Amino acid sequence: MKRILSGIKPSSEILHLGHYFGALKQWVGLQKTHTCLFPVVDLHALTIPQDPQKLRESTTNVAKTYLAVGLDPKKSVIFKQSDVVAHLELFWILNTITKVSELLLMTQYKDRVQKNGPQSALAGLLNYPVLMAADILLYDTNFVPVGDDQVQHIELAREIARRFNQKFGQTFVIPQPMVEKIGARIMSLDDPAKKMSKSDSNPNSCIALTDKPAVIREKIKRAVTDSGKEVKYDPKKKPGISNLLTILSLVLNVSIKSLEKKYKGAGYGRFKSDVADTLVRFLSDFQNKYNKISDARVKKVLADGARKARKTAEKKIEEVYKKVGLK
Ligand code: TYM
Repeated sequence: MKRILSGIKPSSEILHLGHYFGALKQWVGLQKTHTCLFPVVDLHALTIPQDPQKLRESTTNVAKTYLAVGLDPKKSVIFKQSDVVAHLELFWILNTITKVSELLLMTQYKDRVQKNGPQSALAGLLNYPVLMAADILLYDTNFVPVGDDQVQHIELAREIARRFNQKFGQTFVIPQPMVEKIGARIMSLDDPAKKMSKSDSNPNSCIALTDKPAVIREKIKRAVTDSGKEVKYDPKKKPGISNLLTILSLVLNVSIKSLEKKYKGAGYGRFKSDVADTLVRFLSDFQNKYNKISDARVKKVLADGARKARKTAEKKIEEVYKKVGLK
């Protein structure tokens, strides 16, 4: 079976609809047909300042989310990145063949520097895609299911893998991004030109998977649309309505076309109210599952997962150390 790896960083308490539709939803389906590894990438979260206690809690909550959406520890290896030290060992080796000029091109880095000024740029933030490459290459990953903001990082991982193989002989599988046609970029509710993001300062911009019904209804009601009336998919002219159509079609598993037909002449009020009702139902079901998962269960799943991940990772790092002359 081909191998899948993907992860989410526990950099805030909020996981939102973008994480679900861009990443988690795909992962659940892939468990049946692939060998899957799903780390909670806690080392990545450190690229922005974290309160240590909150980071521990967020890490547990991300793992809980993995389980509540349907990732099954019997089928997938679910673990905490920092429990497998080989990620950091490979990170260093890969840093020695990655150009700073390549890292300076990464959109996430450029955006943060633009937003907060160049003096805010930490080396960890610049090097973060190399750690991501290490996560992926360590396990001979074939496919990396992600939202479209991460594709650039996977392209870099591919380049680093090719370079290493060329220099030291065939070692790494060249991974491929796996991006859904619909859902790879869920947009912000208050500014549909931007992607939905947990770092957004406006809490109305995103729907957290743990939002309560009244909050969900309020956020959908406030979601920015346009001055028209037609419920039609047209991301250029109607980005807000198109985003809501995308979300509704993903939750209901029906085509956008069929929704356009259903809401012909209905107006935005009725459409939004249906989007809100559908999300309330969907997220209540998720939250019921989420609330039943104990911290103790998460601890056990992560410990078992780390044991399994270490077995594969340690073999690979041994091979890499030999190739570069450390062993
Ligand atoms: P992160 O934690 O920012 O996001 C986790 C996943 O959610 C997707 N995503 C979205 N998809 C659609 N619409 C959105 N608005 C949206 N927001 C987030 C992301 O594309 C991602 O798939 N660097 C990664 C984490 C990582 C990783 C890895 C991923 C570290 N190592 C190895 C894959 C493989 C990140 O920061 O994702």
